[in-house]
Amino acid sequence: MKIDVRQGSLQDADAALVAVGLYEGEALPEEVADAPGVGDAKGSFRTMTRIYPGDPERLLVVGLGARDKLDAEKLRVLAALVAAEAAKVEAASLAWALPAYEDEAAAAEAIVTGTILGAYRYDRFKGKSDGEDEEDEPKVRLGSLSLLAPAELAGAAETARVYSEAANRARDLQEAPANFAKPEDLAARAEEIAAGNDNVTVEILDGDAIRAKGMGGLAAVSQGGPVDPRLIVLRYAGGGDSPTLGFVGKGVTFDTGGIVLKPGAGMPDMKFDMSGASAVLEATAAIAELGLPIDLITVVPSTENMPSGTAVKPGDVITQYNGKTVEVNNTDAEGRLILADALAYAIELGAERVIDMATLTGAVVIALGSTYAAVVSNDDELAGEIGAAGEESGELVWRLPLHDEYRDLMKGTVADLSNLAKKREAGTITASAFLEHFVADTPWAHIDIAGTAWDVNRAYTGKGGSGYGVRLLVQLARDLVD
Ligand code: BES
Ligand code: MN
Ligand code: ZN
Repeated sequence: MKIDVRQGSLQDADAALVAVGLYEGEALPEEVADAPGVGDAKGSFRTMTRIYPGDPERLLVVGLGARDKLDAEKLRVLAALVAAEAAKVEAASLAWALPAYEDEAAAAEAIVTGTILGAYRYDRFKGKSDGEDEEDEPKVRLGSLSLLAPAELAGAAETARVYSEAANRARDLQEAPANFAKPEDLAARAEEIAAGNDNVTVEILDGDAIRAKGMGGLAAVSQGGPVDPRLIVLRYAGGGDSPTLGFVGKGVTFDTGGIVLKPGAGMPDMKFDMSGASAVLEATAAIAELGLPIDLITVVPSTENMPSGTAVKPGDVITQYNGKTVEVNNTDAEGRLILADALAYAIELGAERVIDMATLTGAVVIALGSTYAAVVSNDDELAGEIGAAGEESGELVWRLPLHDEYRDLMKGTVADLSNLAKKREAGTITASAFLEHFVADTPWAHIDIAGTAWDVNRAYTGKGGSGYGVRLLVQLARDLVD
């Protein structure tokens, strides 16, 4: 979407739809205060009043609620609702007068983000054949947003554009069905990211290289199906003097559960089991596009998890990249097996603080729903920084604890570790206790996004892939440098 910031009156906005905020109990800006029809407009939060005063032709009064209650999250929601109004009237261009708000840069970012995320549609496979009539889809798509605001907010608006478009690209990757998004396709996207930025390099390992390196977790999960796995590495050299950051993202392009086959009912959603991968790849792209002065190593282990005569079996023992042996007691706990190799590899490549993001456990959906992701960490400072970035970006995280009692549950019978805890309870934490074995003393945080990666149903994410994690990770990187 084209974004520009300019100071100007509502009459000069020159857009198919002009949005202006109204606080509860307050008045509209003088320029439109007496326009015909505005008397009906209300300031209560989320109330939208569309009127046709003549100049501007089409005005949307946006209820902001009480002045002291407005925050960035509410603005993202309102911006998405405005984008929905724009779709209704088939407006290709939108102007938004920045409401009076204490932190103008934050308000500008929130409006740009809510608009770009709210206008997102995944229509790759819809209405492509001749004569196909898509009645419920608008013919005209919103192509531009003009923020009527002081010109010095252009930088904030551009930053928000970059990370919000990145989040939408992550959603495209998430939404792509498993027959269109294979490990090689994630690798191709990583290559494209590297080709697009001089400071990004890429390295891809195929199945033979993965096995030769002794990445036994990724090898074992991939051995049930014909699709060749990939281990994807992106390196961004932005300079600066903070410790090299590492991102690791779970890239299971389809999780059937393997020999411990999942029930059929929820299985189509398992195309989303690469949401961690899409988030870290596109966050890396956004960080590079913004030119943030940090060094970053991003590692994505990617495979399908399929049952067959060659599949890994319950009880099989494998050796992970760092030499630890693991009993695969449940083939559906595959994410931790591939993350284990990738975490150890990222640290070997030079990551000094590592964050992994993964749709790892159904348990986190029960614990936190789709409002918060879970973070589990061996480092209070890193966990605190992620929490703060969550509050700033609106991609919230809530910390869960580690404890020796959880760690004990992951010990193996014939091998060092089991990939399945001795009891079902606290499944998100026991999965983390497993991962902890592969980061040694490196500050590390695991973010379980199984509840937040799709069907979040906020105004600006709706159903389907949410792009969760891109904005959080970009915010974290920004916080590191300012
Ligand atoms: N990809 C799933 C986790 C998942 C489940 C994400 C439902 C989103 C919705 C993961 O690979 C998995 O199957 N985890 C198992 C682990 C268990 C066997 C220890 C789970 O959570 O049931
Ligand atoms: Mn699984
Ligand atoms: Zn999985």
